[in-house]
Amino acid sequence: MNEHLAWVPTEASVTGSQGWQERYSRALADTFGPPQRILVRGEGCYVWDADGKRYLDLLAGIAVNALGHAHPALTSMVTAQMGLLGHVSNFFGTAPQISLAELLLTTVHAPEGSRVFFTNSGTEANEAAFKLVRLHGGPARPRVLALEGAFHGRTMGALALTHKSAYREPFEPLPGGVEFLPFGDFAALEAAFADGGHEVAGLFLEPLQGEAGVRPLPPGYLARARELTRAHGALLVVDEVQTGIGRTGQWLAIDHEHLGGGVRPDVVTLAKGLGGGFPIGAMIAFGAAGGVLGRGQHGSTFGGNPVAAVAALTTMGVIARDGLLEHVRTLGAQWRAELAACGNPLVAGARGEGLLIAVELTREVAPAVQAAALEAGFVVNAVAPDALRLAPPLVLSSEQAASFTEFLAHLQVPA
Ligand SMILES: Cc1ncc(COP(=O)(O)O)c(C=O)c1O
Repeated sequence: MNEHLAWVPTEASVTGSQGWQERYSRALADTFGPPQRILVRGEGCYVWDADGKRYLDLLAGIAVNALGHAHPALTSMVTAQMGLLGHVSNFFGTAPQISLAELLLTTVHAPEGSRVFFTNSGTEANEAAFKLVRLHGGPARPRVLALEGAFHGRTMGALALTHKSAYREPFEPLPGGVEFLPFGDFAALEAAFADGGHEVAGLFLEPLQGEAGVRPLPPGYLARARELTRAHGALLVVDEVQTGIGRTGQWLAIDHEHLGGGVRPDVVTLAKGLGGGFPIGAMIAFGAAGGVLGRGQHGSTFGGNPVAAVAALTTMGVIARDGLLEHVRTLGAQWRAELAACGNPLVAGARGEGLLIAVELTREVAPAVQAAALEAGFVVNAVAPDALRLAPPLVLSSEQAASFTEFLAHLQVPA
């Protein structure tokens, strides 16, 4: 092999975690802290680290690897597209990009005039939505509403919509005009529109806040938000970056009656699971909102890249072909019940929808539980001091789910 191609590590050349951990700490920006493990390969719902240890991946790259790892269809379709046409820029169109936009519009039952803008991540999808909302609002509508606990991403615009002060404050001033309403509080929602409601350009919501600990909006909230935004000429933006593309057992979380109540928003943002592990995001603007962003008003070199588009088409195709939405609904409900009933006094319950689940703990020991799970061969996430997030591949089997329940049932964490 050409010595320069030896720059690319192979499975055989990546052995022994410690050396790679040290190299990581010397070469990578310290934004994430030390990685929990150096991972080498994956197959189905399992990943292996550089020491050869196997883990059941119950996080799927934070709600991303919908089809698990190294899915044969995804691997072969992405490889074939790379061999055919890998990238073209948005000076050109490609069949995968156009087909994916059409599929997304059909899947979300978008009306005539709806349009898709492709991005490479969730934060960029929300950044695009923020720009659309600002254009819609203009100087007459400087107010943008979001919810406490919201996480919409880390670029400056998306960060302005993200609530956590530790993420925001070091980077202020952020784009202005954003107001945060208490989560799920109907009276606060009414009040935000009662006074200066016609100055609101848009309202951003997650149907189920993932980063804030898997918290669903109360029933009826989204419907009321729809009525108020419509009555005041504001846009309703639903961030389905974490919840979309089958994660909750529907294509969109708002397709669940109790979460969405039949509401059609003006904008939906997607990313994470859409590409099954390949980076891609999308902003879907419904109806009249589809005409707001005009030529030259937004752009992306990579957005809608044909390889990413093929990854998304394949991911959505396999989800549909294999009946994964129903599988996710059934397994999710069964697993939540089993987790809640596992009998360990440390476990208070389990909440969530489909395969986006938080195990509620009776003590603030989630980081210790995450570490113990990793030692035992399970990847999970301490999303809050008292909650563990599970967001496994949508192809998880009930036996695999049960193996974690069994682990949790017997887990002892010192006081
Ligand atoms: C609801 C939501 N929006 C946006 C983002 C940001 O997405 P990304 O990390 O792909 O930029 C996330 C990521 O966790 C998310 O959960």
